[in-house]
Amino acid sequence: RKQVGKVTTSCKSFDELLGGGMETQAIVELYGEFGCGKTQVAHQLAVNIQLPVEMGGLNGSVIIIDTENTFRPERIDQMVKGLPPAPDGRIWETEDFLKNINVARAFNSNHQILLAESAMDLAEKVKDSERPVRLLIVDSVTAHFRAEYVGRGTLADRQQKLNKHLHDLMRFGDLNNALILVTNQVMSKPDTFFGDPTKPVGGHVLGHTSTFRLYLRKSKGEKRIARLVDSPNLPDGEAVFSVTTDGLKD
Ligand code: GTP
Ligand code: MG
Repeated sequence: RKQVGKVTTSCKSFDELLGGGMETQAIVELYGEFGCGKTQVAHQLAVNIQLPVEMGGLNGSVIIIDTENTFRPERIDQMVKGLPPAPDGRIWETEDFLKNINVARAFNSNHQILLAESAMDLAEKVKDSERPVRLLIVDSVTAHFRAEYVGRGTLADRQQKLNKHLHDLMRFGDLNNALILVTNQVMSKPDTFFGDPTKPVGGHVLGHTSTFRLYLRKSKGEKRIARLVDSPNLPDGEAVFSVTTDGLKD
């Protein structure tokens, strides 16, 4: 087992909540209502993973499986411009960041599963390069499954497929010493399957596979609250951070 790496969220309290940042060889699940900031956190991590270690990065590259077409290069540009200065005085160039972000659009759940498999091949190719893949984002991991499997009779089928997919992701994280960051919406109205509107989609399968589960919610203005839920080795707790034009900030 390789040594676990940690990536900064750009926010002190958020990093502290996570015991120093988001870990590699782990699945981090961000869940919460629409607009709570899941995709924003994912964009920030796609930038931060590329930073040098002394700035909280892992000199890595990124694969994004984008199921909702919400990846925005312009947002990466804003976040790069919002980065603290480099220790060696060099100027951050957005192009240098964008070229290390491989975005694949997933059209349905089967396609999403296939993309996770081909991510493995891509990562294998750059494994011994200067920029190994240290982050795999699936935003959203559950949306297609939720849309496609409707009705009680299909629940077991959905959970089985989702379960296999999550195990593929976990394997990716282990083999590549990568962080797996997935997003998941909470149900805005009671779900026929699980009933409880505060519970994330995917139920217990996702719950048991994720290493860290973070419940995000809106607070005043730019402020967001992240709550760490059911972590195996960290105390439950909350952190407040802001989503600003420059990206995530304290
Ligand atoms: P769903 O995918 O719909 O479930 O939502 P989400 O949790 O992914 O929300 P997302 O991360 O897209 O957050 C949207 C919110 O982030 C907006 O309401 C804004 O508050 C903030 N945001 C998004 N883009 C920008 C931006 O360019 N500048 C600033 N300052 N804030 C932004
Ligand atoms: Mg989103």
